[in-house]
Amino acid sequence: MRFDFKTTALAAVALCALGAQAQTGPIKVGFMLPYTGTYASLGNMIESGFKLYVQQQGGRLGGREIQYVKVDDESEPAKGTDNVNKLIKRDHVDVLVGSVHSGVALAMAKAAKDNDTLLIVPNAGAAAITGPLCAANIVRSSFTNWQPAYAMGKVAAEGFGQRKGAKRAITITWNYAAGTESVKGFTEAFEQGGGKVVKELSLPFPGVEFQALLTEIAAQKPDAVYAFFAGGGAVKFVKDYAAAGLSKTIPLYGPGFLTDGTLEAQGAAAQGMLTTLHYADNLDTPRNNAFRKAFALTYKANADVYAVQGFDAAQILSAGLNAVKGDLTQRDALTAAMRKVTIDSPRGRFTISPAGNPVQDIYLREVKGGNNEYRAVAIKALADPARGCKL
Ligand code: BEZ
Repeated sequence: MRFDFKTTALAAVALCALGAQAQTGPIKVGFMLPYTGTYASLGNMIESGFKLYVQQQGGRLGGREIQYVKVDDESEPAKGTDNVNKLIKRDHVDVLVGSVHSGVALAMAKAAKDNDTLLIVPNAGAAAITGPLCAANIVRSSFTNWQPAYAMGKVAAEGFGQRKGAKRAITITWNYAAGTESVKGFTEAFEQGGGKVVKELSLPFPGVEFQALLTEIAAQKPDAVYAFFAGGGAVKFVKDYAAAGLSKTIPLYGPGFLTDGTLEAQGAAAQGMLTTLHYADNLDTPRNNAFRKAFALTYKANADVYAVQGFDAAQILSAGLNAVKGDLTQRDALTAAMRKVTIDSPRGRFTISPAGNPVQDIYLREVKGGNNEYRAVAIKALADPARGCKL
């Protein structure tokens, strides 16, 4: 076979040029989020927060323009694999950002692992994502379901201010990964603190037929109720709980999702509620004040925890891309930088564990008017145990 040096050299130069061009053109971010259904507002807030950070950087991260494509995952785990493959195989995204629902995010994590696609999880707290499924190309900007739940179990057992520690609690949630893991986290700390969960109530996601379960709570008369619901379901549950007259006698506790992004719709029913989360609206820091002001100016709406998680997902991506000057082929350096970073978040500074999950303060908040107001640090720098992660 004759070796044509000139043609081969020209082809090599052309390939290099193509490679170089590919590393200076736009980076495609694929949002896989719920834009319909009970979690629709959560998806929209995440997207808005992410875009706000990118906009503040002039539309570029690591020197490269950011482009977006999106898929509505409908919070439907059964469609999760097909939906994520639209972004990976049809749209050829460079980075996946999603999702809100733990079941959907589990499907995304499996696909991200199989295809070695970068994945930033901006909400879903499923333990397996930073547990047995953990991988260098997967990182979270949010929480695990265990984190705020464990903190609430501690507060409920100890009491706070006028609230005495509870001894007997009932839990209530949607019957899927986020709900069951949240209840488990609460129970772990509550029972370590001397309490006892006497009954676990649940209903299928995203059902809102709470009446029979509220009747059961009224009959059992526990000292406290712990509930995991979010979005539209949280609005309905908190209102139904108050309408049933239960909020006067049995304190309703939960992870902050129960009252975040929901207060306008919940109105009087949520006033005075205590919840635990990695964010509080009125954290009086320059970073949070600037973030809330910019968010309100851009979107004519108040930011919530989901907007913060979207904003921080973009910050994590930015840290990775800056470290490699936008060169996605330097994958190891990029993913290492995404874990090494300390994020200057509106929630306060946080680091990322080897498993890829934020190590962060969990706040105790109280609902006052339209805000989840900071009351105390419930647990400082709480790290998820990351059971089963082999990284
Ligand atoms: C979840 O499915 O992991 C989840 C959904 C909404 C709020 C918090 C967690």
